[in-house]
This record gives sequence, C-alpha cells and structure tokens, in this order.
Amino acid sequence: MPQLTVWQNGIRHSARFEGAPVLSRLLEKMGLAIPQPCGGRGRCGKCRVEIKGELSPPNAFEEAAGGRLACQAVLLGDCEAILPESPGMAQIQLEGRGRLGKLSPMPGRLGAAADLGTTTLALKLYDLSNGRNIASAARVNPQTAVAADVMGRIGAALKGELPRLERMALDALGDLLQAACDKAQASMKSVETLVITGNTTMLYLLMGLVPLALSRAPFEADHLFGQWVSLLGKKAYLPPCMNAFVGADITCAVLASGLTEKKDTALLVDVGTNGEIALWQDGTLHVASTAAGPAFEGAGIRMGCGSVPGAIDSLWLEDGQLKAHTIGDMPPVGLCGSGLIDAVAGLLDLGQVQDTGRVEAQRLHLAGEVSLFPEDIRSVQLAKAAIAAGIRTLLHAARVKPGEVSALYLAGGFGSHLDIASAVRIGLIPDELAGKVAVIGNASLAGAAELLLDRGKLKDTALIASRARHVPLGGNPWFNEAYMEEMLFPEE
Ligand code: FES
Repeated sequence: MPQLTVWQNGIRHSARFEGAPVLSRLLEKMGLAIPQPCGGRGRCGKCRVEIKGELSPPNAFEEAAGGRLACQAVLLGDCEAILPESPGMAQIQLEGRGRLGKLSPMPGRLGAAADLGTTTLALKLYDLSNGRNIASAARVNPQTAVAADVMGRIGAALKGELPRLERMALDALGDLLQAACDKAQASMKSVETLVITGNTTMLYLLMGLVPLALSRAPFEADHLFGQWVSLLGKKAYLPPCMNAFVGADITCAVLASGLTEKKDTALLVDVGTNGEIALWQDGTLHVASTAAGPAFEGAGIRMGCGSVPGAIDSLWLEDGQLKAHTIGDMPPVGLCGSGLIDAVAGLLDLGQVQDTGRVEAQRLHLAGEVSLFPEDIRSVQLAKAAIAAGIRTLLHAARVKPGEVSALYLAGGFGSHLDIASAVRIGLIPDELAGKVAVIGNASLAGAAELLLDRGKLKDTALIASRARHVPLGGNPWFNEAYMEEMLFPEE
C-alpha cells in the first residue's frame, strides 16, 4: 500500500492508504486537518502545501493558486508533504480573567473546563479538591477543514456533514482531555465532570443537533442548552446560550467579567469572525452579534495567516517607517489579526491609506515579502464597520452615550493581542472608551472553569441568560446607517 509522509512542526507522521484519496481527507484521518476557508472548493488557495511524489496533475484551481492545494491534489502513490506550522498552545489563548470565590466544586476528583471556539479549542484540567489547574491543552478546531466560519459549518451540516462535524468535535475534545491527563499523569477515568462552553453552533454540532433553525429567519435557536448531558462517558454541563448567535461562550465571558454585578453601565466585546457585544445597563443585558468576517483572524486577507511562527503580530512607526515584529522572531510569512490592525493604523498615519479606504498603490509593503493590498483594506473596513456599528447600535438601543460607559471588557484571543491605540485609530473601538479598556483574555474558558469550581454559579449563568435582551442587527435601519458611516476610517 502506498504511504503518505507528512512533516509538521518538525514532527514526522505517516499513513498508508488505499485508492486515490484527496490529500485533505487523508490528512483529516491522520488528525492533521488543515483549515479550508472556502470549504475545500479550490477557490481560496489557503490550503496550499508543499508536496512531492505521485500525484494527480495540477488542476485549474491549483494552476491559479501557483501550487498544490490539499483540497484538490489526489494521491496516486507514495508522497511526502510539508504542512505549514500549526499554532501551538503558546499561540492559543488559554488564560482569562476569572473571579473564583469560594470552592464548591462539581463532583469528582478531577474535572475539566473546555471552550469550543470556531477556530481553536482549549481545555483546562482541575484538581477539584483544591481548585488547582493541573494541566491545559489546546489545538486548532479540526472543523476548520470543513468551513472557516459558523455559517459555512451550518451549511455543511445541513448538506449531510453533520455526523462528520459531530465526530470531529467529540474526537478533538477527547484528544484534548487525554493530552491534559497525560501531562498531569492522571487517568481519564478520574475525570468525572466536564463544563463545555462554546457558541450556539458549536454546541449544536457537538450534540449532533440539526442546525436548521440557525440557518434561516427568524434565526431562533430551538436549543439553548443550560443542561447536563453525557459526553465521552462523563457528565458534562453545557452552559446556557442567549440566542442563535450569542452563545454559551458569551454567557461564560459575562460571568467571568462580573459585568452583570456592576452598578455602572459597561460593555463586553468579543471580536472574532462573529463579533459578540453585550451591554449591561440598569439590570438589562443588551446583546447583539455581528458578522465581522474572518479578516481579524487573518483569513480573507491575501497574505493573512493565523498566529503561526513568522506571522507579523505587531507593527509600529519609527522615523516615518513601518517596523514589524513576528511571532518567534522568524522571517515574516504573513500577517495575523493584531498585526493587521497595526498595519492599517500605521498606513493611515503615513497617508498611504485615506480615510475613505482609498489606496493609490497596488501593493502596500510591510516587511520582508509581506504586503497589504487594496482589497485587504476593504476587508478590514467591512470587519471594523460591523463591530463599531454593532457597538453604536447597542448603545443607541439602550439610550447610552459612549462617555457613560464605565468599562469595555475585551474578551477572546484577538482582543488579548490587540494594540488599543491601533484599534482606536482605525475606528474599531470608540475614541471615548480608549482609556477604559480591560483585556480579559479567554473569559469564556475562565467562566466555564468558574462553573466547574463553584457550582453555585450555575444559577448566575441562568440569570445572565434570562436578563439578555437581543437587539437584532440584520435589517435594523439604525445599524445599516451606522455601518455605512463606520466604513470610513477616522480622520487623524
Ligand atoms: S482552496 Fe480553499 S480550501 Fe483549498
């Protein structure tokens, strides 16, 4: 039988195969799934790999991409591939601000809290007798091989891919739990309880539920969780979601931030492919979600990439020139979300990008071979306008002025690495809130851990979800107008 040999992060993997499999499918079986932002249709060119051996001749998509695409190349005999480095745990946000008070844990000797994000998965293992975090594990969500965002995955699930997506989520969760147990030299059997948070779609897919209600108007979820289930042979609590697009991850982030215990008005924003915004005011939690697109995760940007070694993660101006820092101080290979915001801020200051987003040059050189292109600036405008207009719409719905907000909690991995001054410069964060930002990291995972260690907080999450008032943005004229205005970058 022919063999595929794969190198990734300096580690050799191999598998024998029968027939003529598509490379991406075999990689998935080997547990090496790579992101396929266009769902494996050959359109985005983001699954490009180095491979040699007996392969199908390059097709038109591969010709256009200028290399072999994992979603198109068919293996005909022995092959050897080198995959792009995958983000390790160091690049996946595990830490978040939690507020553990008394220890009143869920049952068992050990327990785990997990956050199933659209792009990454993270898990922390706890000794429930003393509340200590004894090991952690993180990985890229293997479902990214099916589609990059929740709408793509909902579409795939409705076209017969639901069992595959469910299996991917369960296997990945099991792998993370095993990895954490191995690190802690503990047996999987000693883990009795899990708290698993995630957005509404991720929880649907984990439970194998058909996400039809999430795919069409009025987008009312028929499952909002807040329930105990059995997963991986353990008792697992799935915290409550607020609606179809404001999920349990935000409920947990709100819990961890203490937002709903504040007397003052405060905001929580999780910037991702889907931006979720929660505004606490006078006992009501106004919530909204806005489709920012994948630009802030480096996708949809010509030279965009995830938080991998060599990704430009920050840029600044020095003597009128852009200077760049890369992850791991490696030669620049692309631009991740935080670097992207810095780059646009710097290019605005240099006058190479106008406040309308207009760019004279064909290519805006950043560092090494890495550049931004006019269409990338457009993607950033769309993404930042979605978040900024979402914030404005929520403030308007609650009749709150930006200056009346006492704090802005920035949750999620993207927010953790963001330069606040750059975010204000491009208009992602309102100017009035610049000095009030608190970065709270993976607050979703921190909130899940709080639930695991203090079961008294179960009622708090139920209360948070019950106090949510959803402000729809789709078809909302105020949002549409704010969105058009926010397409402009602020003038200096
Ligand atoms: S070209 Fe988009 S996933 Fe392969």
